[in-house]
Amino acid sequence: MKTYYLSLAMLALVACNQKAKKQDDTTVPADTVTVAMKASVSKEKFGTLPDGKEVDRYTLTNANGISMKVMTYGGIITSLQTPDKNGEQGDIVLGFDSLEGYLQKGVPYFGAVIGRYGNRIAKGKFELDGKTYTLATNDGPNHLHGGKKGFDKVVWTASEKKTDHGVALQLEYLSKDMEEGYPGNLKATVTYTLTDDNELQVDYQATTDKKTVVNLTQHSYFNLAPGTATILDHEVTLHADAFLPVSNTLIPTGELRPVEGTPFDFRKGKKVGQDIGQEDQQLEYGGGFDHCWVLNGAGEGLEKAASLYDASTGRLMEVFTTEPAIQFYSGNFLDGSLTGKNGEKYVHRSGLCLETEHYPDAPNQPDFPSTVLNPGEEYHTTTVFRFSVK
Ligand code: GLA
Repeated sequence: MKTYYLSLAMLALVACNQKAKKQDDTTVPADTVTVAMKASVSKEKFGTLPDGKEVDRYTLTNANGISMKVMTYGGIITSLQTPDKNGEQGDIVLGFDSLEGYLQKGVPYFGAVIGRYGNRIAKGKFELDGKTYTLATNDGPNHLHGGKKGFDKVVWTASEKKTDHGVALQLEYLSKDMEEGYPGNLKATVTYTLTDDNELQVDYQATTDKKTVVNLTQHSYFNLAPGTATILDHEVTLHADAFLPVSNTLIPTGELRPVEGTPFDFRKGKKVGQDIGQEDQQLEYGGGFDHCWVLNGAGEGLEKAASLYDASTGRLMEVFTTEPAIQFYSGNFLDGSLTGKNGEKYVHRSGLCLETEHYPDAPNQPDFPSTVLNPGEEYHTTTVFRFSVK
């Protein structure tokens, strides 16, 4: 397939969404002739933070015209354009047109890299080698997504990379010892690669100089039918036989509960809205789906974790990961108070997140896969989002 695209590119075919001319001079729509262009990366100034730091925004475009914009603040994906079944490009992530949009109070991690610890740590406390570390309690009684100023609110150092399978942007951030209460200087690198196979590959790497905990993820809110108010008609498939029930403050109880016979069974794929309204204590606690599913392929390498499909546009997004779990959050806290791109009001459940990760509260739950990183070790996880239509 790659060679096919490349040779088409060498024949100097025209850019996506334009009309392509056949040799006999009859004009045909671009989507009936496979059209290729060169993958590229460009950079622009996006804005300035209140402390004077400049924020850049990069645009990555692949050979098939899929493009994404990423800013250095929070490593935030501000837009992701993919074609629908008619070849029409659409932006499938929630977000804002300007930096100021993202700096408003109460923006719930739109598109951001999450760290040092994605998801919750009970009561903002954990122990390592007999020492208790205290973190911000920024989600009721618990710690959420790295604290008050997590990796979503810092400026990353960006560099463009060309790889043999796509264009990439590497983001680096040094989280200092005791920043947000976490021990160890943590060097974190997140690399977004947009491949010519229509995949967004996210590689997370980290090293530390003191024993610490790490759980990095990506917090994009997807709506595969841009302009449609909710994601309730999106079909979700989760390759998970079990999920983690939570307390009323969304901390896992420690139980791995089979999904069989519960509203949490997404193994065969179903619409988000199908069972979300059922009477169920777990749905009540989450205000909908806001839970961590234990992936069947955990520990086996880059395995299929989930897929998201919207029949109205034909867009399909498949998620592969090396992580053992995935948080599926159905956008329950969105309440219409934020107005995003194209003047759209982000109403209840107007986007959903699929956050690949280790289990929430693992630092306090010895039976969960460990999130401890020791000096001399390298943290490396990979998640791939593959875009197509069907
Ligand atoms: C995560 C959490 C949710 C919520 C969102 C942000 O996905 O699990 O409970 O906090 O982030 O609003």
